[in-house]
Amino acid sequence: MSRAGAQSTVEGRASDNPHCQDDASLLQRYLKVRDTSLQICAPLGVEDHSLQPNADASPAKWHLAHTTWFFETFVLSQYMAEFRQFHPAFRNLFNSYYNAVGDRPLRALRHILSRPSLDEVHAYRSYVDEAMARLLTLEQPAAALDLIALGINHEQQHQELIVTDVKNGLWANPLRPAYRIKGEHVTAHLTHAAPSLQWQSFPEGVYSAGFEGSGFAFDNEGPRHNVYLEAFRLASRLVTNGEYLDFMRDGGYSNPLLWFSDGWDCVRANQWNAPLYWEQRDGEWWNYTVEGMQPLQLNEPVCHLSYYEADALARWAGARLPSEFEWEVAARSSPIAGNFLESGTLHPQPATSAEPLVQMFGDVWEWTASPYVAYPGFKAAAGAVGEYNSKFMCSQMVLRGGSCATPQSHMRVTYRNFFPPSARWQFMGLRLANGD
Ligand SMILES: [Fe+2]
Repeated sequence: MSRAGAQSTVEGRASDNPHCQDDASLLQRYLKVRDTSLQICAPLGVEDHSLQPNADASPAKWHLAHTTWFFETFVLSQYMAEFRQFHPAFRNLFNSYYNAVGDRPLRALRHILSRPSLDEVHAYRSYVDEAMARLLTLEQPAAALDLIALGINHEQQHQELIVTDVKNGLWANPLRPAYRIKGEHVTAHLTHAAPSLQWQSFPEGVYSAGFEGSGFAFDNEGPRHNVYLEAFRLASRLVTNGEYLDFMRDGGYSNPLLWFSDGWDCVRANQWNAPLYWEQRDGEWWNYTVEGMQPLQLNEPVCHLSYYEADALARWAGARLPSEFEWEVAARSSPIAGNFLESGTLHPQPATSAEPLVQMFGDVWEWTASPYVAYPGFKAAAGAVGEYNSKFMCSQMVLRGGSCATPQSHMRVTYRNFFPPSARWQFMGLRLANGD
């Protein structure tokens, strides 16, 4: 599915708004995003590029090829008359889920693609990049510019997936190898205690939600529409590892009254007793990070939770998860800034203050209580890109705010991520809500 995954994700088409960047700045943005994908993969060995630890994740090599395929298939093949495909078989080989494009290999078997080699995939990227640079020296119709903007945002979605899929793949190795050397980048395990949790109140009323305006947005963020909200309160910060540990020590994983029926079945079937990547050694909890196993930091946001676990924690705490509209209304007063991919930490960081709302953007995607469904008046685009988002509007929950692996330039307050309730390998956490 999506960005590779079967589940999810957040792929989407461009908004109907004309793209307003000029071609030169669009080319610069294109080249920068394409380079970022390679930089994320720079610490990986050739063998690391082929890791696929589960059916929801994809190998890094596949991500590098599939994002290239997107530009080749939806832009160059349609808007550059003299363009010739790099290899005719790639049209199906690196198709993710677009039935309108044609067949593709089983998603769970992407790791068997030892050929083309990593060098050939790099050559494929260069070939397409050179063609895209030529294309962008010529004036392009608005429809082409919209597809290029979509392709750029699509690649940024896959950048986050490269981080999360590589992390999961390396963790699956009993050696628990690190993605990078500890201390090579700034990963400040700040030692201060998390600020006390405060509650921010919002009055009942009719609010506007969803994207409206110029610039890029995925189709699933609109149309903008009215929603009625009862008065509610939102926690000033994310739930921490320390608070989640309190839930565990209070028997959270053994009390069925705290769980949805599906969640309880999931806990028992998978024998979950802690978030993904937590491991107990000699009575102490450790956490697998991109820098390998590290002692659990109690002040950091809890991460790699399923929707079921997030909901159970909220019930245990006498609260609930916010709806996606409550989250969006609250987030409109916060700057889109925080611990994103650009910070280089690739790990959620502790809150440094409690007022009035912190960590709304970055660190961890926040599970909401909202099912992923279409907004009133939503219409999927015609053709293949109409498959980007709309066909996944079933059996998934919405997450908001972005994570430490999300490119900041790619975030909006209306951005909707979505995953099945059992998913845990993304940077997923929660913020509490309550009635007023
Ligand atoms: Fe994709």
